[in-house]
Amino acid sequence: MKITIIGTGYVGLVSGACFADLGNDVLCLDLDEKKVATLKAGGIPIYEPGLEQLVRHNAAAGRLRFTTNVEESVAHGAVQFIAVGTPPDQDGSADMRHVLAAARNIGRYMTEHRVVVDKSTVPVGTAERVHAVIDEELKRRGVSIPFSVASNPEFLKEGAAVADFMRPDRVVVGSSDELATQAMRQLYNPILRNHDRLLVMDPRSAELTKYAANAMLATRISFMNELANLAEKVGANIESVRHGIGSDQRIGYHFLYAGVGYGGSCFPKDIQALQHTAGEYGMNLTIVDAVEKVNRTQKQRILEKVRLRFGEHLDGKTFALWGLSFKPNTDDMREAPSRVVIGGLLSRGAKVCVYDPVAMEEARRIYAKEPAVKFAASTTATLDGADALIIVTEWKEFRSPDFEDLKKRLKSPVVFDGRNLYDPNHMRTAGIEYFSVGRH
Ligand SMILES: NC(=O)c1ccc[n+]([C@@H]2O[C@H](COP(=O)([O-])OP(=O)(O)OC[C@H]3O[C@@H](n4cnc5c(N)ncnc54)[C@H](O)[C@@H]3O)[C@@H](O)[C@H]2O)c1
Repeated sequence: MKITIIGTGYVGLVSGACFADLGNDVLCLDLDEKKVATLKAGGIPIYEPGLEQLVRHNAAAGRLRFTTNVEESVAHGAVQFIAVGTPPDQDGSADMRHVLAAARNIGRYMTEHRVVVDKSTVPVGTAERVHAVIDEELKRRGVSIPFSVASNPEFLKEGAAVADFMRPDRVVVGSSDELATQAMRQLYNPILRNHDRLLVMDPRSAELTKYAANAMLATRISFMNELANLAEKVGANIESVRHGIGSDQRIGYHFLYAGVGYGGSCFPKDIQALQHTAGEYGMNLTIVDAVEKVNRTQKQRILEKVRLRFGEHLDGKTFALWGLSFKPNTDDMREAPSRVVIGGLLSRGAKVCVYDPVAMEEARRIYAKEPAVKFAASTTATLDGADALIIVTEWKEFRSPDFEDLKKRLKSPVVFDGRNLYDPNHMRTAGIEYFSVGRH
């Protein structure tokens, strides 16, 4: 099938490469000329395991191409996926500018039937808005061309995006248009051969499903973070509690880790957008509000522990910091807890020496004008002369450090672990002052 993907970010590029890998003829459009030039030259603008190889292979086979030419992109795909960003607007609502601009472009240039699919995470009612915008453009042109609009929210996880796309738990399609539903079935059938996990529902339910999924996952995280803080007070161990409840099949183990709070390009903005949607209908989402509030506080917890140990003013102190991306296996630092931690340390006069296995380039871009942030080439290089180590992201390579070497390099053997990577007893025996989350 001929497909156009509009927007080549995490979702667009992964979807485009995967659809091409299934044999479709895919053209990816992005307005960012630098990004498209990189892709055309065989480069990948983001870090995502397995993606580079997939893009190279399918580009070489002629099934995956990139363009900045809108007219060409509208002419190409019988199915047009909108996968552009929906960042938070100032009032917390999803900024729909890019989605509606993409829809308008389709209306402006289409000459035959198009199935337009919203893959971006968009507020309830967007399929109708997209339909109206295309209609408006066609009327302006004085033409009547049939088209279909469907919603197909994406559930992939950064860091495992290719695998998630190719082996989805389910594919949600919001459609009340038979042509659109058929096109989605045809496209997704190859990855749903084992058993049919395509769930067709009305567009509004599909749109709400995406927000509901993210809100539920964020709720589990905030719930555990709040209980971890209680565990610290009452002398319990949140890891034991996690095992104790995760083993209950009704609860399960996923998303029950206490830590430094959730970040990334999705949870924070989607939670806010959901709150905003509720507000538009005169409702408060009490649970979702609490989830957000707990998360904001949790991002400060590690700074609070630093304050209790080192005092309010941190002038002359240097902190080693491991992990910058909002989670392992990605270079994405949007809303990353590391940014809150670094910001808090700098505002109190400290210097920070940071390391991340893949997000260093992104960090250099973000902190280009910040002389108090130093960039190290390895975990150990951050430690020399630092007053303490702070761990923010649970990358695999942080799991088994040489503790004797770590002690020698740090000025004082203090570790703040925002991800509970080490055994508190082991740390005690090793003579390291160890602060983790919800454990003693
Ligand atoms: N990142 C994730 O893990 C993830 C997972 C599920 C859903 N989502 C959702 O998918 C959407 C995209 O997210 P992302 O992380 O891939 O975004 P991104 O910011 O990485 O990429 C968006 C791309 O769209 C391009 N763009 C913007 N306007 C355009 C236009 N009019 N025409 C063509 N290109 C345009 C931008 O230049 C950019 O390259 C968002 O709504 C997000 O919430 C993201």
